[in-house]
Amino acid sequence: MSAILLLHGPNLNLLGTREPGVYGSMSLADINQRSVEFGQGLGVEVRCAQSNHEGALIDALHEARTWAGGVVLNPGGYTHTSVALRDAIAAIGIPVVEVHLSNVYAREEFRHKSLVSAVCRGKISGFGWRSYLLGVQALVDILNEV
Ligand code: DQA
Repeated sequence: MSAILLLHGPNLNLLGTREPGVYGSMSLADINQRSVEFGQGLGVEVRCAQSNHEGALIDALHEARTWAGGVVLNPGGYTHTSVALRDAIAAIGIPVVEVHLSNVYAREEFRHKSLVSAVCRGKISGFGWRSYLLGVQALVDILNEV
């Protein structure tokens, strides 16, 4: 079975209790479980990871190059700040789908800018926990095309 990485950035470990009006009430563990099951239905193994640290996220992306067909990535706040994360995505040469729970364009202006979008294959934003399933679906479709 082919495999993909589902990678979550900073503060997403607090999902469920973190600003539920913005991010919903589902925990990260619940989202991961749904994503793994959804992937199984598509014939793909979804491996999940989360870090609050920029370097650890970059390490996970580098490592994914050795085993994953692609990555579904919610970079959290690093979306708007991290040149290093952008460079890692550009470097690994496997498709990365950017996902966000919230509609970043309906929020503060500083969230309208993403440093990673230009090097991602595409972006899904605003569908709550469903953004992740849409991201998995999109990535698997892309991988099945080639
Ligand atoms: C987020 C949006 C970001 O602006 C924010 O910093 C997050 C979560 C989202 O999933 O909606 O941490 O990536």
